[in-house]
Amino acid sequence: MLLDDMHTVKAIYPGTFDPLTNGHLDLIARGAKIVDELVVAILRNSEKGTPLFTVPEREEMIREATQGFRNVSVTTFDGLLVDFARQRGAKAVLRGIRAISDYEYEFQMAMMNRKLDPELETLFMMPAEKYTYVSSRLIKGVFQLGGDVSALVPPLVVERLKAKVPNRVQE
Ligand code: PNS
Repeated sequence: MLLDDMHTVKAIYPGTFDPLTNGHLDLIARGAKIVDELVVAILRNSEKGTPLFTVPEREEMIREATQGFRNVSVTTFDGLLVDFARQRGAKAVLRGIRAISDYEYEFQMAMMNRKLDPELETLFMMPAEKYTYVSSRLIKGVFQLGGDVSALVPPLVVERLKAKVPNRVQE
């Protein structure tokens, strides 16, 4: 069968990424293996409160950390994810599920997105076991209290955390 554009799968991996963790990177690597094109999309107007990193800072970190993947790109979006996905010609949304506790929120979001656009599929993947407890929120909290997060985020994120969070207890 001839492969043409009709058969290439583009997926969006949306999130807040404040900051990128090794769990996110693990998921990007897994997603990039099964879709033709993966677009990491940072939500610009998140309702999650004041972020630690600006959107351009987060975008730059993800770009640097994913430069080894030839089919991964990084961008930002605003408004409804389904509208962004349609506008980019994406057939799927990639989301990670770490534990049962993620399931309810992810299920609601997937179902709402399906209601809004029945053509858009949500793909769930599980990150490596060693990252199942890692979240951006925990990383920020632990780092701000002087904890070592170097095994849980890319080295460039550790550097940015150090530059962003002064006078931390550690070292
Ligand atoms: O990493 P996060 O913060 O859990 O990602 C949440 C995100 C960005 C995927 C979600 O908030 C989102 O898609 N927001 C865009 C607005 C939208 O489409 N809302 C309806 C879906 S429930």
